[in-house]
Amino acid sequence: MHAAYIEQFGPPEAIRYGELPDPEPGPTDVLVAVDAVAVNNVDTFVRSGAWRTPVPLPFVVGRDLVGTVLSAGPGAHRFRPGDRVWCNSLGHDGRQGAAAERAVVPAERLYPLAPGADPLEVVAVAHGAATAHLGLFPHGRLRAGETVVVIGAAGNVGGAAVVLAARAGARVVAVAAGRDAGYCRTLGAAEAVDRDGGDLAEALRAAAPDGVGLWLDAAGVNDLGLAVDLMARRGRAVLLAGMRTRPELPVGPLYLKDCSVHGFAISHAGTAELAGAAAAINRLTAEKALSVRAVETLPLREAAAAHRRLEDGGVRGKLVLRTDT
Ligand SMILES: NC(=O)c1ccc[n+]([C@@H]2O[C@H](COP(=O)([O-])OP(=O)(O)OC[C@H]3O[C@@H](n4cnc5c(N)ncnc54)[C@H](OP(=O)(O)O)[C@@H]3O)[C@@H](O)[C@H]2O)c1
Repeated sequence: MHAAYIEQFGPPEAIRYGELPDPEPGPTDVLVAVDAVAVNNVDTFVRSGAWRTPVPLPFVVGRDLVGTVLSAGPGAHRFRPGDRVWCNSLGHDGRQGAAAERAVVPAERLYPLAPGADPLEVVAVAHGAATAHLGLFPHGRLRAGETVVVIGAAGNVGGAAVVLAARAGARVVAVAAGRDAGYCRTLGAAEAVDRDGGDLAEALRAAAPDGVGLWLDAAGVNDLGLAVDLMARRGRAVLLAGMRTRPELPVGPLYLKDCSVHGFAISHAGTAELAGAAAAINRLTAEKALSVRAVETLPLREAAAAHRRLEDGGVRGKLVLRTDT
């Protein structure tokens, strides 16, 4: 089969496109004919070795796929050949990756494509939306009626967080570039604050007069001084990006308000947590209520170029690699 793979960690150009043997499914696995795979920031971290996780070599890059079931082992009997499916947790923790014509997926990590959902939209939205779901609910413990501030609200993670939080009955204050205010409102934000519009603290205080229940930073800004200042009692700040940031934490105000700061990485999510996120994604993609702002498709053989473009910055939305072009 054709695959985009590396034989050693390295820059985007370490990715080769060529033939690898078909993968061998085990009894609880499903063999999937892959239609398309997403290109995520984390895929570049795994490929370069910046984030160390056990992977086999040669290693097929990528973690998210959409495709069709070819065969299912005896312990994976809820799937049948021909089922349309997706997965968002290959390519780390010992598992081979997704960017190939065929992939083996453990049944507990495979989800049916919702009826009516666009497969390319699902694979494009999966990583950001699952991250947003985990950040808001299991980690952020968001409740209906709370105010949630989403930093980076026009991005893949942030945009999905706006949709999911608004659907959960929270009041969403989006922080994004001024040009993205309208987009954030269409996603469900009650208020859109211009990240570059002057006094951010003042604008957020006006937008959240009763304090912030959940502060979700999907842009890696990690201004904990501002977050703690604006949080309500028992407020939570959830951090998931900005690996190199070293913000100051005002500890007194934090504990005097019973606040907390919590970080997480989706790569550590268990299969039950991932399945909870997948169910939410399936509900919303069936209604066409969840998508990334733009999907650009490229042939699988251009995986190296796609990694290079993502690393160089400026990709808005998601690059998706197709196996059929
Ligand atoms: N921890 C995890 O499990 C996990 C999972 C998924 C992703 N991530 C990380 O989360 C981050 C976001 O990923 P993504 O796919 O959503 O990226 P993305 O689509 O590029 O979104 C980032 C957004 O943040 C905006 N932004 C940049 N600086 C800002 C600021 N000062 N204030 C407000 N918004 C700002 C960007 O706007 P412009 O485009 O206008 O600059 C963009 O809309 C990445 O660092 C990624 O590696 C972590």
